[in-house]
Amino acid sequence: MSQSPTMHLAADLSFLHTDYLWRLPGSWVGYDYYSTSEFYEEIARIAQRGCMDMLFFGDTGGTPEDFGGSHEAPVRYGAKWPRHDMAPMIPLMAKAAPNVGFAITMSTTYHHPFYVARFFNALDHVTRGRIAWNVVTSAYKNEAANYGFDEMMDHDTRYLRAEEFVEVAFKLWNSVEPGAFIGDRETGIFADPSKVHRIDHRGTYFNVRGPLPALPSPQHRPVIIQAGLSGPGMDLAARYSDLQFSTRRTVPSMQQHRGALDQKLQAFGRDPRDVGILWSIRIQVADSDADAQEKERRYLEAIPPQAGLVELSAQYNVDFSKARPGMKLADFADEVRNQKGNYGSFDELLKTTDPSQTVDEFGRRFLVDRILVAAGTPKKIADKLEEMHAASGSNGGFILGRGYSAMDNIREFVEHVVPELQRRGLAKKAYTGQTLRENLN
Ligand SMILES: Cc1cc2nc3c(=O)[nH]c(=O)nc-3n(C[C@H](O)[C@H](O)[C@H](O)COP(=O)(O)O)c2cc1C
Repeated sequence: MSQSPTMHLAADLSFLHTDYLWRLPGSWVGYDYYSTSEFYEEIARIAQRGCMDMLFFGDTGGTPEDFGGSHEAPVRYGAKWPRHDMAPMIPLMAKAAPNVGFAITMSTTYHHPFYVARFFNALDHVTRGRIAWNVVTSAYKNEAANYGFDEMMDHDTRYLRAEEFVEVAFKLWNSVEPGAFIGDRETGIFADPSKVHRIDHRGTYFNVRGPLPALPSPQHRPVIIQAGLSGPGMDLAARYSDLQFSTRRTVPSMQQHRGALDQKLQAFGRDPRDVGILWSIRIQVADSDADAQEKERRYLEAIPPQAGLVELSAQYNVDFSKARPGMKLADFADEVRNQKGNYGSFDELLKTTDPSQTVDEFGRRFLVDRILVAAGTPKKIADKLEEMHAASGSNGGFILGRGYSAMDNIREFVEHVVPELQRRGLAKKAYTGQTLRENLN
């Protein structure tokens, strides 16, 4: 869907309130904090000015207690807390930015496919075809506890359930054919029953009769995003997704990831072109390299030293408050692996981090360096994006990830970096399609 010299551009809005960004000058200033829509509507307008394809909200429904055994530190520092349900923002943002697409996250472990299929059908109608679903299997203990599980379902079972979940959702989206709606006032016929079908799904995890009691939406089904790094995660992505998120941190690792996905796609009878990858990247734009370094310094300084360890604990379900002076990241590898959570991304950190670095040193940088980083002048950033896009097969683009502020950093990206990319023919100057799927083509 996305193979092209032009890169697709997106932004992850999940952490704009956390990661200590709220402490940066300019962050959130002039807006009611978090729960009102004006802040998000303004971001949507900025994204529209930059012809960005998509704005994304991640989601987890738990309050982490992994660090030191309580929620004290996450709440104190705002690490993955709070997490409001951002779905109600989508229609408001979609109105403010008529061409930008929106991705939100729904867990296949804790929801039901009938509800989710119906929900995305509705959002696809309301946004006129600009919605995407980030399909996640949810690797966090406290989220499991909020949905009634004393023990988190194990990784591979979560993916088996996810496979069936997405299969059912697809069946439901296909259960009403395009053209089912007639709306003939003369004859009084509303819709054609022969184009509406039960699905009669009976499976391991779900029994769903169907049909979806809804008219087909503009995209027919949402754009499907999957960010799995494990074998089953990559399988799910290769079978169903239109886009993948990835947090690889070096060009060789991006190439290896792209190669692995392409192999899986071929195994499922799909074309590599069918699935673009959006690589997470943190951008720091400045007039000079020295200014970029100064901005980085200010950002790092705003982060309480302990906060990185709190975040590491929340991410990997392991208590990093137990880190003793001199302990290395590798010392925690077995414990992380045993959690069967996000081991894929931890393994990426082990492979790409200086092995002599202590956990304490690493903790602080975890918030800022766990994804690709491009800092400097717009030209330097565009050079780096261009090089990485080409080296990874020009198939997807970039999603601004953790560690940028709003409005400042996102506006700087749109005002300074995007025009440089457009000049080079690397970013689009206008939206060509009506729907998100068309714009990602
Ligand atoms: C950019 C990005 C965004 C993600 N967003 C979420 C999210 O919102 N909620 C969630 O539970 N997991 C999220 N994940 C985690 C992935 O869905 C996945 O579980 C993780 O990459 C580990 O891969 P695995 O599940 O195959 O082991 C995200 C991952 C990436 C790279």
